[in-house]
Formats: sequence, C-alpha cells, structure tokens
Amino acid sequence: MEYTVKSGNPEKQRIGCVVIPVYASRKLSPSAKIIDKVSNGYISNLVRRGEIEGDLGNILLLHNVENTLCDRVLLIGCGKEKDVDFNTFYKINRTMVKTLKSSGATEIASYLTEIQVKNKNINWKIQHSILAIEEDLYKFNLLKSKKKETRRPLRKFIFSVHGRGQLMEGEQAVRQGMAIASSISLAKDLGNLPGNICTPEYLASQAVKLDKQHGNICTNVLEVADMEKLGMGALLSVTRGSRQPAKLITIEYMAGEKKQAPIVFVGKGVTFDSGGISLKPGEAMDEMKFDMCGAASVIGVMSACAELQLPINLVGIIPSVENMPDGSASRPGDIVTSMSGQTIEILNTDAEGRLILCDALTYAEKFKPDVVIDIATLTGACVIALGAHSAGLLGNHNPLANDLLSAGQTSGDRCWQLPLWEDYQEQLKSNFADMANIGGKPAGTITAACFLSRFTKKYHWAHLDIAGVAWKSGKEKGATGRPVGLLTQYVLDRVKDEN
Ligand code: BES
Ligand code: MN
Ligand code: ZN
Repeated sequence: MEYTVKSGNPEKQRIGCVVIPVYASRKLSPSAKIIDKVSNGYISNLVRRGEIEGDLGNILLLHNVENTLCDRVLLIGCGKEKDVDFNTFYKINRTMVKTLKSSGATEIASYLTEIQVKNKNINWKIQHSILAIEEDLYKFNLLKSKKKETRRPLRKFIFSVHGRGQLMEGEQAVRQGMAIASSISLAKDLGNLPGNICTPEYLASQAVKLDKQHGNICTNVLEVADMEKLGMGALLSVTRGSRQPAKLITIEYMAGEKKQAPIVFVGKGVTFDSGGISLKPGEAMDEMKFDMCGAASVIGVMSACAELQLPINLVGIIPSVENMPDGSASRPGDIVTSMSGQTIEILNTDAEGRLILCDALTYAEKFKPDVVIDIATLTGACVIALGAHSAGLLGNHNPLANDLLSAGQTSGDRCWQLPLWEDYQEQLKSNFADMANIGGKPAGTITAACFLSRFTKKYHWAHLDIAGVAWKSGKEKGATGRPVGLLTQYVLDRVKDEN
C-alpha cells in the first residue's frame, strides 16, 4: 500500500473516495461541514432524515456528491466526539477499510486525521491509521496453492493534515507507521509458518537476511557445538529430543554511539513445543508452532529500528530449538547445569522456555547491556491471568518496567505488571538441584519469572510473557505480531529521551 499526506479541502480532492467523520448524535465534523456547504446542505439533509446517526460503526457511502471532485464520499460514525480514545480510533479505521475494500475505490483521501483522540497528536493518528489498515489487509497466503486476486484492490491512502506546517511531521509519521506495520507483518508471517518450515535453521536464515538488508546489522549464529563449549546445558537439554539442530542467533544493530550500552532483546524461539516427554494433550497442539513468537517479535523490532535508522545500539538474542520427545529427550527428573553454573532439576519437560531463556540471559551479559528485555510465550497461566488483551510484565528494575508500561499505553500494545516478590521464590525449591524448573500451579507466570530472575542479577531486566497476546485462536487463528508495536515504541521513546 502507498501512503502519503496532503493538506487541502475535501471537496477539491480528485480521487476515488474521501472519508469523512460524523459524530453522535448527528454532529458534523469540520470536513463534513465543508462538503455539506458545497453540496448545498446535502449531508445535513441526510443526517436529519436519519440516514446516519454518527454512532460508532455507522457508515454511509455516497456517490457523485454535488460540487465535489471525488467519485465517493464515505461518512463514518465515530461515536461521541469527546469519547474517542485509541481503541475507538482503531475501530473507526477498521470500519473504513472494511467498507472501502468492496467499494471499488482504489485511492482514498482520509480526513479521519481531524478526529481529536485523547492525548494523541497527528503523528500518532497517521501511524495508527496505517497500522489499522495493514492489520485489516494482512493475509497469510504463502502456503495456499491458489492465490485470490481482488479485482480492484486498494492502492493508496492520502492522510489529510492541517496546513503545510504539518506536512513534514505527517511524512515522518508515514515512515514510522509503514516501518512498524511491515515489521508486524514480518512477525506474523514467521509466527504463522508451520513447524516443518519455520525451524531454528529457518529463523537463523531470516536473521541473516536482516544482516544482508541493512548495513548496520550484523548477525551471528552459534551452533550446538559452540553452545556446548559455552556450557549451555539448560538450553541444550531441550533440543535433545529433536532432529532439528538448535541455534543461538544474535543480531546486532549498532547505530548509536560506540560507548553507549545496548538494549538487549531476548526472544523465545521454540519452533514447535510438543511438551517433550511431558507431552502436551493433542487438542490445539498445532498452536504450539506459535511458540517462537517472542523470537519473531525480536526480528520484527530489529527490522523496524533498522528501517528507521534509529541512532541507538540494540542486540537481539534468539535461542531457538524444537521441543520434541524421542529416545534421547530429557526425562522428568533429569538435572542439568546451566551456563551460569546453577543446576536445574527438570521436573516437567514442557517448562522448556525458561530452560532456553536462562542460558540466553546469561549469554546476554557479554554485551554489557543497559537493559535486557526478554519476550516469551512462556506460560498458559498468563493466558488465564490477563487473557488476550495484555502481555504480562515482570522485572527487577521499576524504571524499566514503567517505560514499558508507558510504551504500551502509547502504542496500544499493552502490558500489565505482576509482582516479582521474593515470597514466590520458594516454590522453585528442589531436593536434588539448585532449583526446579516448575513452581506448581499457583502463580505460574510469576514463578516462571522467578526462575528467570535467578539468571538476570547482573543487569536491569524485564520479562514480557506474551502467551495470551502473540496469536489468536479459533476462527481467526493466526499470529498477531505483538509485541512489535510495544517494543518499537519503547525504542522510539528511548531515542527521544537521549536526544
Ligand atoms: N509454550 C508453553 C506456554 C503456553 C501454553 C503458551 C499454552 C500459550 C498457550 C510453555 O512452554 C509451557 O508449556 N508452559 C507450561 C509450564 C508448566 C509446565 C509449568 C504451561 O504453561 O502449562
Ligand atoms: Mn512447553
Ligand atoms: Zn513453550
């Protein structure tokens, strides 16, 4: 899709469709008033007759409106003018795309940018219009033998800005929106690919591809033998039962000052989680191909930041394995030694995420990080606690947690903090090793984070449990690309703070 910005009156746009907001109850927006005036009261007449109330979700598509240069005018109900927040703005944009897709129009001028959204500026509105449009248009067709062609697909959106003074800001917003949207799509594609295609090796090849695309990116892939040398006994215990070789992928993006400590992202890359010998039940087991969505979000955020050429240092670390049961798989009761030297009793082979993350988190020390953020589809308990709307957030440094909470509010890709109190640590006690890899039923998300916290003592760290938000189940099954939006916003905020 092509996106641009432009300032100018709606009736002067020579284009397929002009999109105009209308508020409840029957209140015309500034652009609606202009169209109304040039068309001699056509819009206010329709509104008076009850053709559109302006409630959220209302639409009215008009053709050949008098004294306008466009083929169509699409009126969109936005609800009460004062009540538009980021959720409603998103819904309004989704309604717009859904209607336009079957309208025959290919080029669109959107005046939805004139809607006042609480605490949000023009940059935010343009960026989020693009994200909503791309969310609607995303399809995973890579593996369908027959591609569906749309006869008159949407080609171009022009966002209206207020006067020439906003053009530069608008263009910047378009660049940001497009970079984030394409990185979200990339993360979705990786998530949606099945386990027989998206293997650890495939993830590594995607990271190498980033290296080739961007001069500032340098990718490195460690093999099983390298990890053995590093003493990554926890990570390697997970891959034992699989025919797919494990990979430890690092993606460095160094566009900041040399001495500036990097932000390190660590993404769980379990390309299929059968549970191992602690085998999962069969129902919905296919969804465990999404167990690499943390890794996908790391690839996504690296790609967005590189695309935007942000002046900052970032490192992405992706421990990638497949968790399968075979004759050499780990058994419940096995004890392994992690890279940190701490020993772990594997009481459940299905708690594999923390086993690969703990060694990756120890490995992260090597980059002398400013902060480390790990992203993982780690616990079913997090789905129970927070559902599909918010990721779980835990960590050892409150300023970092607050930055992530705030980036969540800005991006709409939200997270919510859970306590990481010392009191929970005792659930990980093992009679035979330094710790067990599970902490029992109560507070499963917290005890998983407690486990990780034992490997992150040397730096500021936050953990995002994305088990509930990384993909949708049911009829619309598919990866969401979350939390690429949240992480990119966090980096954007950091860049702003430092300049
Ligand atoms: N990948 C799963 C977590 C998961 C499960 C995410 C269902 C989304 C939906 C993880 O590896 C896992 O199996 N966790 C176990 C941990 C338990 C054995 C302590 C879980 O949550 O059941
Ligand atoms: Mn598991
Ligand atoms: Zn898992």
